[in-house]
Amino acid sequence: MNKQDDVILMNGDCLEMVRNIGKDSVDLVVTSPPYSDLRSYNGNNKQWNEQVWQNLILSLYRKIKKGGVMVWIAQDKCINGGESGESFRQALWAMSAGFKLYDTMIWNKPSPQAPTEGRYYDVFEYMFVFSKGKPKSLNLLKDRKNKSFGSVSNKETRSCREDRKLTGEKRTVAEFSRRFNVWDMSRGRNKTKHPAVFPEQLANDHILSWSNEGDVVLDPFMGSGTTGKMAKLNNRKFIGIELDKEYFNIAKKRIEES
Ligand SMILES: C[S@@+](CC[C@H](N)C(=O)[O-])C[C@H]1O[C@@H](n2cnc3c(N)ncnc32)[C@H](O)[C@@H]1O
Repeated sequence: MNKQDDVILMNGDCLEMVRNIGKDSVDLVVTSPPYSDLRSYNGNNKQWNEQVWQNLILSLYRKIKKGGVMVWIAQDKCINGGESGESFRQALWAMSAGFKLYDTMIWNKPSPQAPTEGRYYDVFEYMFVFSKGKPKSLNLLKDRKNKSFGSVSNKETRSCREDRKLTGEKRTVAEFSRRFNVWDMSRGRNKTKHPAVFPEQLANDHILSWSNEGDVVLDPFMGSGTTGKMAKLNNRKFIGIELDKEYFNIAKKRIEES
């Protein structure tokens, strides 16, 4: 274990390592587990199977505080010409473990990889947002520019009702509206040696949406440390777990230098 100020990093199997984390102590999990065997993480995803993720989800439920959130970013592989459906099974399992499926969000990647034979381009991944009861921290991002910004009306329309400010009897359309639950974010250039880094913006925006300063953020599949870096930059505490020593060292350096 490596502890520095408000950052705790553990090199090992998350199923084992989560035992070091106190019950009801985590505010937010932002993670992307190994996607079946879609990718090889230095050969370390061999231990990934249904029993592992089932046990892990049960443990994470116990570690998360009441009102805490878990963002689980997942994708399926193709087996015998059909998708594995593992991401759905994980979502249903998380619900049976006690989580509320608060939102099913989509990460839309504008620059996809080449499609497999007979299929459309695969451009998205699921971002399941689970909560332990009602989320206690909700800071939904408002950055969708309103075309009718500044116009005044006393007519309420469903689409922008929440973004109007009352001005006497009339209402002014605010400059920005709440974001959609489909997020368009390209992977960008991967500056690390890790094969599946997710965008910093994606980790950043989930951290802002579902936690507050001083909260504890956990990533049990830390990879190159994207969640950790953005948690630190946003003044959250961070606990990261990574099985592979090489990736662990990449994450440690990246978080320390941020
Ligand atoms: C999809 S990647 C995460 C990438 C990360 N979000 C990033 O931006 O770099 C999954 C990571 O989980 C790690 N991993 C696989 N099995 C693990 C386990 N049992 N315990 C901890 N980490 C594991 C892999 O080595 C890999 O780095």
